[in-house]
Amino acid sequence: MAVLSGPLISSFFVFMILMSNNLMYSGFSQPTCKPAYPKDAIPVYKEDVDMMQFPENLEFLEAEFFLWAALGHGLDRVAPYLVMGGPPPIGAQKANLDALTEKIITEFAYQEVGHLRALKSVVGLFPRPLLDLSAKNFAKLFDEAFGYKLVPPFDPYRDSLSYMLASYVIPYVGLVGYVGTNPTINGYLTKRLLAGLLGVESGQDAVIRTYLYERAEEVVHPYNHTVAEFTIRISELRNRLGMCGIKDEGIIVPLELGAENRTTSNVLSANYYSLSYRRTPAEILRIVYGTGNEHVPGGFYPRGGNGRIAKSFLNKS
Ligand SMILES: *[C@@H]1O[C@H](CO)[C@@H](O)[C@H](O)[C@H]1NC(C)=O
Ligand SMILES: *[C@@H]1O[C@H](CO)[C@@H](O)[C@H](O)[C@H]1NC(C)=O
Repeated sequence: MAVLSGPLISSFFVFMILMSNNLMYSGFSQPTCKPAYPKDAIPVYKEDVDMMQFPENLEFLEAEFFLWAALGHGLDRVAPYLVMGGPPPIGAQKANLDALTEKIITEFAYQEVGHLRALKSVVGLFPRPLLDLSAKNFAKLFDEAFGYKLVPPFDPYRDSLSYMLASYVIPYVGLVGYVGTNPTINGYLTKRLLAGLLGVESGQDAVIRTYLYERAEEVVHPYNHTVAEFTIRISELRNRLGMCGIKDEGIIVPLELGAENRTTSNVLSANYYSLSYRRTPAEILRIVYGTGNEHVPGGFYPRGGNGRIAKSFLNKS
Protein backbone atom coordinates (compact mmCIF):
# COMPACT_ATOMS: atom_id res chain seq x y z
CA MET A 1 0.00 0.00 0.00
CA ALA A 2 3.00 2.25 0.42
CA VAL A 3 2.98 2.97 -3.27
CA LEU A 4 -0.57 4.34 -3.06
CA SER A 5 -0.06 7.82 -1.73
CA GLY A 6 -1.32 11.35 -2.29
CA PRO A 7 -3.56 11.91 -5.33
CA LEU A 8 -3.12 8.33 -6.40
CA ILE A 9 -4.63 6.94 -3.22
CA SER A 10 -7.61 9.29 -3.35
CA SER A 11 -8.38 8.37 -6.95
CA PHE A 12 -8.18 4.74 -5.87
CA PHE A 13 -10.92 5.41 -3.33
CA VAL A 14 -13.03 7.34 -5.82
CA PHE A 15 -12.70 4.35 -8.12
CA MET A 16 -13.82 1.97 -5.36
CA ILE A 17 -16.82 4.16 -4.56
CA LEU A 18 -17.84 4.26 -8.23
CA MET A 19 -17.49 0.51 -8.43
CA SER A 20 -19.69 -0.07 -5.43
CA ASN A 21 -22.27 2.35 -6.79
CA ASN A 22 -22.34 0.41 -10.03
CA LEU A 23 -22.75 -2.81 -8.14
CA MET A 24 -25.53 -1.31 -6.09
CA TYR A 25 -27.40 -0.12 -9.17
CA SER A 26 -27.06 -3.39 -10.98
CA GLY A 27 -27.99 -5.29 -7.83
CA PHE A 28 -31.01 -3.32 -6.71
CA SER A 29 -32.50 -1.39 -9.59
CA GLN A 30 -32.39 -2.95 -13.05
CA PRO A 31 -32.56 -0.45 -15.91
CA THR A 32 -36.01 -0.73 -17.45
CA CYS A 33 -36.09 -1.95 -21.05
CA LYS A 34 -39.76 -2.75 -21.30
CA PRO A 35 -42.46 -0.16 -21.92
CA ALA A 36 -45.22 0.08 -19.34
CA TYR A 37 -48.58 -0.66 -20.95
CA PRO A 38 -51.73 0.36 -19.09
CA LYS A 39 -52.85 -2.39 -16.70
CA ASP A 40 -55.91 -3.41 -18.67
CA ALA A 41 -54.38 -2.98 -22.12
CA ILE A 42 -55.29 -5.73 -24.57
CA PRO A 43 -52.45 -7.23 -26.64
CA VAL A 44 -54.46 -8.25 -29.73
CA TYR A 45 -58.08 -7.31 -30.39
CA LYS A 46 -60.23 -9.84 -32.24
CA GLU A 47 -60.78 -7.21 -34.97
CA ASP A 48 -57.01 -6.79 -35.43
CA VAL A 49 -56.52 -10.31 -36.68
CA ASP A 50 -58.01 -9.99 -40.19
CA MET A 51 -56.40 -6.59 -40.70
CA MET A 52 -52.95 -7.90 -39.79
CA GLN A 53 -53.35 -11.18 -41.64
CA PHE A 54 -54.09 -9.36 -44.89
CA PRO A 55 -50.46 -8.21 -45.36
CA GLU A 56 -49.32 -11.84 -45.02
CA ASN A 57 -50.26 -12.09 -48.70
CA LEU A 58 -47.50 -9.58 -49.48
CA GLU A 59 -45.03 -10.97 -46.94
CA PHE A 60 -45.31 -14.42 -48.55
CA LEU A 61 -44.72 -12.84 -51.95
CA GLU A 62 -41.64 -10.96 -50.77
CA ALA A 63 -40.25 -13.95 -48.89
CA GLU A 64 -40.48 -16.20 -51.94
CA PHE A 65 -39.27 -13.60 -54.43
CA PHE A 66 -36.20 -12.68 -52.36
CA LEU A 67 -35.36 -16.20 -51.16
CA TRP A 68 -35.51 -17.72 -54.63
CA ALA A 69 -33.54 -14.89 -56.23
CA ALA A 70 -30.77 -15.00 -53.63
CA LEU A 71 -30.60 -18.71 -52.76
CA GLY A 72 -32.31 -20.60 -55.57
CA HIS A 73 -34.93 -22.06 -53.23
CA GLY A 74 -37.79 -20.76 -51.12
CA LEU A 75 -39.79 -21.19 -47.93
CA ASP A 76 -40.39 -24.89 -48.54
CA ARG A 77 -36.69 -25.42 -47.92
CA VAL A 78 -35.84 -22.55 -45.56
CA ALA A 79 -38.89 -22.51 -43.29
CA PRO A 80 -41.45 -25.16 -44.29
CA TYR A 81 -43.33 -24.62 -41.01
CA LEU A 82 -44.42 -21.21 -42.34
CA VAL A 83 -46.13 -22.27 -45.58
CA MET A 84 -49.11 -23.82 -43.77
CA GLY A 85 -49.75 -26.24 -46.60
CA GLY A 86 -49.94 -23.57 -49.33
CA PRO A 87 -48.76 -24.49 -52.84
CA PRO A 88 -45.21 -23.63 -53.99
CA PRO A 89 -44.81 -20.51 -56.15
CA ILE A 90 -44.88 -20.66 -59.94
CA GLY A 91 -41.75 -19.70 -61.87
CA ALA A 92 -39.56 -18.48 -59.00
CA GLN A 93 -35.85 -18.90 -59.68
CA LYS A 94 -32.33 -17.85 -58.75
CA ALA A 95 -31.47 -14.44 -60.15
CA ASN A 96 -28.17 -13.62 -61.81
CA LEU A 97 -26.96 -11.20 -59.12
CA ASP A 98 -23.59 -9.57 -58.45
CA ALA A 99 -22.07 -10.05 -55.00
CA LEU A 100 -23.37 -6.79 -53.47
CA THR A 101 -26.93 -7.21 -54.73
CA GLU A 102 -26.97 -10.84 -53.64
CA LYS A 103 -25.94 -9.84 -50.10
CA ILE A 104 -28.71 -7.24 -49.91
CA ILE A 105 -31.37 -9.60 -51.25
CA THR A 106 -30.24 -12.47 -49.01
CA GLU A 107 -30.70 -10.20 -46.01
CA PHE A 108 -34.13 -9.04 -47.23
CA ALA A 109 -35.09 -12.67 -47.80
CA TYR A 110 -34.30 -13.76 -44.26
CA GLN A 111 -35.98 -10.61 -42.91
CA GLU A 112 -39.17 -11.75 -44.62
CA VAL A 113 -38.87 -15.12 -42.91
CA GLY A 114 -38.66 -13.25 -39.60
CA HIS A 115 -41.71 -11.18 -40.54
CA LEU A 116 -43.73 -14.31 -41.23
CA ARG A 117 -42.60 -15.80 -37.91
CA ALA A 118 -43.64 -12.61 -36.11
CA LEU A 119 -47.04 -12.55 -37.84
CA LYS A 120 -47.50 -16.23 -37.04
CA SER A 121 -46.89 -15.69 -33.36
CA VAL A 122 -49.16 -12.63 -33.00
CA VAL A 123 -52.10 -13.14 -35.38
CA GLY A 124 -51.47 -16.59 -36.90
CA LEU A 125 -50.67 -17.42 -40.51
CA PHE A 126 -53.02 -18.56 -43.23
CA PRO A 127 -51.72 -20.90 -45.94
CA ARG A 128 -49.33 -19.38 -48.46
CA PRO A 129 -51.40 -18.29 -51.48
CA LEU A 130 -50.46 -19.49 -54.94
CA LEU A 131 -47.90 -16.96 -56.23
CA ASP A 132 -46.86 -16.36 -59.82
CA LEU A 133 -43.25 -15.18 -59.73
CA SER A 134 -42.49 -16.22 -63.30
CA ALA A 135 -40.45 -13.97 -65.58
CA LYS A 136 -43.48 -14.04 -67.87
CA ASN A 137 -45.72 -12.48 -65.23
CA PHE A 138 -43.21 -9.70 -64.57
CA ALA A 139 -42.84 -9.16 -68.32
CA LYS A 140 -46.58 -8.65 -68.63
CA LEU A 141 -46.55 -6.11 -65.79
CA PHE A 142 -43.67 -4.15 -67.35
CA ASP A 143 -45.39 -4.22 -70.77
CA GLU A 144 -48.47 -2.73 -69.16
CA ALA A 145 -46.34 -0.11 -67.44
CA PHE A 146 -44.82 0.99 -70.76
CA GLY A 147 -47.93 0.54 -72.84
CA TYR A 148 -46.20 -1.64 -75.44
CA LYS A 149 -44.43 -5.01 -75.60
CA LEU A 150 -40.80 -4.73 -74.52
CA VAL A 151 -38.48 -6.73 -76.77
CA PRO A 152 -37.02 -8.99 -75.50
CA PRO A 153 -39.56 -9.48 -72.69
CA PHE A 154 -38.49 -7.99 -69.35
CA ASP A 155 -36.82 -10.65 -67.18
CA PRO A 156 -36.40 -9.85 -63.47
CA TYR A 157 -33.86 -12.67 -63.09
CA ARG A 158 -31.61 -11.49 -65.96
CA ASP A 159 -29.18 -9.34 -63.94
CA SER A 160 -28.90 -7.24 -60.78
CA LEU A 161 -30.43 -4.09 -62.21
CA SER A 162 -33.42 -5.93 -63.67
CA TYR A 163 -33.90 -7.65 -60.33
CA MET A 164 -33.84 -4.39 -58.39
CA LEU A 165 -36.33 -2.87 -60.85
CA ALA A 166 -38.60 -5.84 -60.27
CA SER A 167 -38.11 -5.43 -56.51
CA TYR A 168 -39.18 -1.80 -56.82
CA VAL A 169 -42.64 -3.27 -57.44
CA ILE A 170 -43.08 -5.06 -54.12
CA PRO A 171 -42.03 -3.77 -50.63
CA TYR A 172 -43.48 -0.35 -51.45
CA VAL A 173 -46.96 -1.86 -51.72
CA GLY A 174 -46.43 -3.47 -48.31
CA LEU A 175 -45.29 -0.17 -46.86
CA VAL A 176 -48.31 1.86 -48.00
CA GLY A 177 -50.55 -0.98 -46.87
CA TYR A 178 -49.14 -0.88 -43.32
CA VAL A 179 -49.57 2.89 -43.19
CA GLY A 180 -53.19 2.39 -44.25
CA THR A 181 -53.80 -0.38 -41.70
CA ASN A 182 -52.29 1.48 -38.77
CA PRO A 183 -55.38 3.47 -37.66
CA THR A 184 -57.59 0.37 -37.86
CA ILE A 185 -55.81 -1.76 -35.26
CA ASN A 186 -56.03 -1.45 -31.50
CA GLY A 187 -54.04 -4.01 -29.53
CA TYR A 188 -50.67 -2.91 -28.19
CA LEU A 189 -49.00 -6.05 -29.44
CA THR A 190 -50.60 -5.67 -32.86
CA LYS A 191 -49.42 -2.06 -33.03
CA ARG A 192 -45.92 -3.01 -32.00
CA LEU A 193 -45.87 -5.67 -34.72
CA LEU A 194 -47.15 -3.27 -37.36
CA ALA A 195 -44.61 -0.58 -36.50
CA GLY A 196 -41.80 -3.12 -36.57
CA LEU A 197 -42.87 -4.47 -39.95
CA LEU A 198 -43.42 -1.00 -41.36
CA GLY A 199 -39.96 0.08 -40.26
CA VAL A 200 -38.20 -2.71 -42.10
CA GLU A 201 -40.45 -2.59 -45.20
CA SER A 202 -39.69 1.13 -45.49
CA GLY A 203 -36.02 0.39 -45.05
CA GLN A 204 -36.08 -2.20 -47.81
CA ASP A 205 -37.92 0.19 -50.09
CA ALA A 206 -35.40 2.93 -49.33
CA VAL A 207 -32.46 0.65 -50.12
CA ILE A 208 -34.04 -0.42 -53.42
CA ARG A 209 -34.87 3.16 -54.39
CA THR A 210 -31.43 4.48 -53.47
CA TYR A 211 -29.82 1.70 -55.48
CA LEU A 212 -31.94 2.73 -58.47
CA TYR A 213 -31.45 6.44 -57.84
CA GLU A 214 -27.67 5.99 -58.08
CA ARG A 215 -28.31 4.60 -61.58
CA ALA A 216 -31.21 6.90 -62.50
CA GLU A 217 -29.78 8.02 -65.84
CA GLU A 218 -28.44 4.60 -66.86
CA VAL A 219 -30.16 2.93 -69.77
CA VAL A 220 -31.57 -0.46 -68.79
CA HIS A 221 -29.98 -2.97 -71.13
CA PRO A 222 -31.31 -4.07 -73.65
CA TYR A 223 -34.05 -1.43 -73.66
CA ASN A 224 -34.15 2.17 -74.65
CA HIS A 225 -35.37 3.45 -71.30
CA THR A 226 -33.50 4.79 -68.30
CA VAL A 227 -33.81 3.43 -64.77
CA ALA A 228 -35.71 6.59 -63.78
CA GLU A 229 -38.19 6.04 -66.61
CA PHE A 230 -38.80 2.46 -65.47
CA THR A 231 -39.62 3.62 -61.94
CA ILE A 232 -41.91 6.37 -63.21
CA ARG A 233 -43.79 3.97 -65.50
CA ILE A 234 -44.23 1.38 -62.72
CA SER A 235 -45.43 3.99 -60.26
CA GLU A 236 -47.88 5.37 -62.83
CA LEU A 237 -49.19 1.87 -63.50
CA ARG A 238 -49.75 1.30 -59.79
CA ASN A 239 -51.60 4.59 -59.52
CA ARG A 240 -53.82 3.62 -62.48
CA LEU A 241 -54.57 0.19 -61.01
CA GLY A 242 -55.08 1.55 -57.48
CA MET A 243 -57.63 4.07 -58.81
CA CYS A 244 -57.22 6.49 -55.91
CA GLY A 245 -55.03 9.25 -57.28
CA ILE A 246 -51.28 9.69 -56.88
CA LYS A 247 -49.90 7.52 -54.09
CA ASP A 248 -46.83 6.33 -55.84
CA GLU A 249 -43.97 8.29 -57.40
CA GLY A 250 -40.87 7.40 -59.41
CA ILE A 251 -37.34 8.36 -58.34
CA ILE A 252 -37.39 11.57 -60.42
CA VAL A 253 -40.47 13.80 -60.28
CA PRO A 254 -41.67 17.23 -61.38
CA LEU A 255 -40.99 19.85 -58.68
CA GLU A 256 -44.60 19.89 -57.51
CA LEU A 257 -44.26 16.27 -56.35
CA GLY A 258 -40.82 16.77 -54.75
CA ALA A 259 -40.16 17.60 -51.10
CA GLU A 260 -41.69 21.05 -50.37
CA ASN A 261 -41.85 21.70 -54.14
CA ARG A 262 -38.06 22.04 -54.10
CA THR A 263 -36.61 18.76 -55.35
CA THR A 264 -36.92 16.75 -58.52
CA SER A 265 -35.00 13.93 -56.88
CA ASN A 266 -37.43 11.60 -55.19
CA VAL A 267 -35.40 8.93 -53.46
CA LEU A 268 -38.43 8.35 -51.23
CA SER A 269 -42.03 8.46 -52.39
CA ALA A 270 -44.13 10.63 -50.08
CA ASN A 271 -47.11 12.99 -50.03
CA TYR A 272 -47.58 16.77 -49.72
CA TYR A 273 -46.34 16.64 -46.11
CA SER A 274 -43.55 14.23 -47.01
CA LEU A 275 -45.47 11.52 -45.17
CA SER A 276 -45.78 8.02 -46.58
CA TYR A 277 -48.84 7.41 -48.72
CA ARG A 278 -51.39 4.87 -47.49
CA ARG A 279 -53.53 2.35 -49.28
CA THR A 280 -56.53 0.17 -48.35
CA PRO A 281 -56.63 -3.61 -48.89
CA ALA A 282 -58.91 -3.11 -51.94
CA GLU A 283 -56.40 -0.73 -53.55
CA ILE A 284 -53.57 -3.15 -52.86
CA LEU A 285 -55.45 -6.07 -54.39
CA ARG A 286 -56.28 -4.04 -57.50
CA ILE A 287 -52.54 -3.46 -57.90
CA VAL A 288 -51.08 -6.86 -57.06
CA TYR A 289 -53.77 -8.68 -59.07
CA GLY A 290 -52.83 -6.39 -61.96
CA THR A 291 -56.51 -6.26 -62.88
CA GLY A 292 -57.53 -2.95 -61.34
CA ASN A 293 -60.33 -4.93 -59.70
CA GLU A 294 -60.12 -6.42 -56.20
CA HIS A 295 -62.77 -8.98 -57.18
CA VAL A 296 -60.75 -10.32 -60.11
CA PRO A 297 -57.55 -12.21 -59.21
CA GLY A 298 -54.53 -12.35 -61.49
CA GLY A 299 -50.96 -11.11 -61.66
CA PHE A 300 -48.94 -12.36 -58.71
CA TYR A 301 -52.03 -14.13 -57.27
CA PRO A 302 -53.63 -16.30 -59.98
CA ARG A 303 -56.18 -17.64 -57.45
CA GLY A 304 -56.39 -14.48 -55.35
CA GLY A 305 -55.08 -13.68 -51.90
CA ASN A 306 -55.81 -15.62 -48.72
CA GLY A 307 -57.37 -14.51 -45.46
CA ARG A 308 -60.82 -13.14 -44.72
CA ILE A 309 -60.35 -9.72 -46.35
CA ALA A 310 -59.05 -10.89 -49.74
CA LYS A 311 -61.53 -13.82 -49.77
CA SER A 312 -64.47 -11.53 -49.03
CA PHE A 313 -63.73 -9.58 -52.23
CA LEU A 314 -63.34 -12.77 -54.27
CA ASN A 315 -66.69 -14.11 -53.13
CA LYS A 316 -68.40 -10.97 -54.36
CA SER A 317 -66.95 -11.10 -57.87
C1 LIG B 1 -34.47 5.84 -77.74
O1 LIG B 1 -35.07 6.86 -76.96
C2 LIG B 1 -34.65 8.15 -77.32
C3 LIG B 1 -35.22 9.11 -76.29
O2 LIG B 1 -36.49 8.69 -75.83
C4 LIG B 1 -35.10 8.45 -78.74
O3 LIG B 1 -34.66 9.72 -79.11
C5 LIG B 1 -34.48 7.40 -79.68
O4 LIG B 1 -34.97 7.58 -80.99
C6 LIG B 1 -34.84 5.98 -79.20
N1 LIG B 1 -34.13 4.99 -80.00
C7 LIG B 1 -34.70 3.86 -80.39
C8 LIG B 1 -33.83 2.93 -81.16
O5 LIG B 1 -35.86 3.56 -80.12
C1 LIG C 1 -46.53 23.24 -54.17
O1 LIG C 1 -47.05 24.03 -55.21
C2 LIG C 1 -48.43 23.90 -55.44
C3 LIG C 1 -48.84 24.80 -56.59
O2 LIG C 1 -47.99 24.62 -57.67
C4 LIG C 1 -49.19 24.29 -54.19
O3 LIG C 1 -50.59 24.07 -54.39
C5 LIG C 1 -48.69 23.48 -53.02
O4 LIG C 1 -49.30 23.95 -51.82
C6 LIG C 1 -47.18 23.56 -52.86
N1 LIG C 1 -46.74 22.61 -51.86
C7 LIG C 1 -46.11 22.98 -50.74
C8 LIG C 1 -45.71 21.90 -49.80
O5 LIG C 1 -45.86 24.13 -50.46
